[in-house]
This record gives sequence, C-alpha cells and structure tokens, in this order.
Amino acid sequence: MVPPGIELRGLGLRYAGAAVFSGLHLTLTAGEFFVLLGPSGAGKTSLLRIIAGLEPPDEGLVAASDGAPLAGRVSYMAQQDLLLPWASALNNVMLGATLRGQLRDAARAAALLEEVGLTHRAHARPAELSGGERQRVALARTLYEDRPVVLMDEPFSSLDAITRVRMQDLAARLLAGRTVLLITHDPFEACRLGHGFTILSGSPARLAAPTRLPGLPPRAPDEDGILHLQGELLRQLAQGGA
Ligand SMILES: Nc1ncnc2c1ncn2[C@@H]1O[C@H](COP(=O)(O)OP(=O)(O)OP(=O)(O)O)[C@@H](O)[C@H]1O
Ligand SMILES: [Mg+2]
Repeated sequence: MVPPGIELRGLGLRYAGAAVFSGLHLTLTAGEFFVLLGPSGAGKTSLLRIIAGLEPPDEGLVAASDGAPLAGRVSYMAQQDLLLPWASALNNVMLGATLRGQLRDAARAAALLEEVGLTHRAHARPAELSGGERQRVALARTLYEDRPVVLMDEPFSSLDAITRVRMQDLAARLLAGRTVLLITHDPFEACRLGHGFTILSGSPARLAAPTRLPGLPPRAPDEDGILHLQGELLRQLAQGGA
C-alpha cells in the first residue's frame, strides 16, 4: 500500500452563486501528515468533502500523484461522527465493511476499540455514549478502514486534554506513512502532528502558502520549541494566513 500524494488544482466552490473559495492550489506530499486550519465557516469541511469525492467542485480538480483514481483509497472522518444509531460501537467500527458486503474482522475492530479505550462500551449504542466516546468510536472506524489516504475533520475536538493527547499519539502511530489531511482549530494539535500546515481564510477563501514545521511528528507536548511553533501559527491565524 504505497500512499499517493494529492494535488488540488484550482479548486473553487460556490453555494447559491456565492463563492466559498476559489483558485485553491495545494500539494500534499505522499506519506505526510498535513494540517488545515482557518476560521469557522471558511470552507474547510467543504474542501475535505471535495477531496473525499463526496461533492464535486465547481472549478478545478483533485488528482493523485500516481495518476490513479482516489476512489476507494480514502477514509474520511466527518466533523459529525455519523454513527448508525441502532448499531453497537463494535458494529459501527465495522460499518464500512458491512456496507460494502465484505467480511468483517471483529477481532481487529475490538482491538481498535481497546486502543481508543472503549472495550467496556463495545456493545453500547451511540445514544448511550458521551460525545467524546462517540468521537473515539468514529476514530476507531476510520483506523479500521486502513486506507492509504486519510481525511479527518476535527477528530479530537470533543476530547478532554489527556485523552486528546493519547488519541493524537494513537493516530500518529497508526497513520504513520499515510497521506493525511487533518482539520483542526487547535494550534497545539497542529504543531504536535503536522509535517506542515496551511490556513484557509478570507471571503472567498484562499489558502496561505504552506508552512513546513521543523523536525518530525508526533512532537511531545513538552518538546522544546513547540510553544514557539504555536506562537508562530497563532500569529499567522490572526493575520488571516499571511
Ligand atoms: N450544503 C450547503 N449549502 C449552502 N451553504 C453551505 C453548505 N455547506 C456549507 N455551507 C456554507 O459554506 C461555508 C463553509 O462551510 P464549511 O462547513 O466548509 O466551513 P468550515 O470551515 O468547515 O467551518 P467550521 O470550522 O465551523 O467547521 C459556510 O458559510 C457554510 O454556511
Ligand atoms: Mg467544518
């Protein structure tokens, strides 16, 4: 499973005639973890859905660096957890396989639920889970899909600080070597996990020139320099990605 890089070439999107973003160009390097930040409403989720193939852009295209279609090689963790209400946590982890009519690997799903700390909730329905527990089931489902390209929309937003650091470490470990695009509002998360980041902002929104982060992720929460990186990122966010 060699992950492809991804190129966004001149992407534009309009809702009801008004441009959300236009002329977006970005290269995601194969096997790297890249972070997308930007103000609420800028169009981050819409952009991720286009890359996932869930909605078409009004302009431009998304291409894989190996020239093959991206379809079937992407797993997408939505901003809403999209768990099936009547299925258990365990069955929600295996939902993709069920929908595709494939054999399900309950042992692997259970192992992932253990990794996200939810073995004791494996048979609970989503309505019986807390917001953070639901988010961890959705994370386990994304990891279960085992795809070379992974798109995650604020995957850790509902978690307490300690669980968040643990889940960041888990994602960094299990997704190492894949091409990952992660949306977050958290500069600390961006600096821990990213090989690089960019900011989507403005109206219509544009992407700032990508910034490469020094060293390799995952960076320890108390690593020298992480505060400085966060400061630099906050400065860019305050300036609208300039
Ligand atoms: N299906 C839709 N129809 C019309 N407008 C939409 C639709 N989906 C999103 N929008 C609008 O497009 C803009 C971008 O939305 P999007 O969800 O991509 O933002 P976002 O950057 O992910 O924000 P947040 O950080 O709050 O999640 C917003 O102004 C939103 O109201
Ligand atoms: Mg969003």
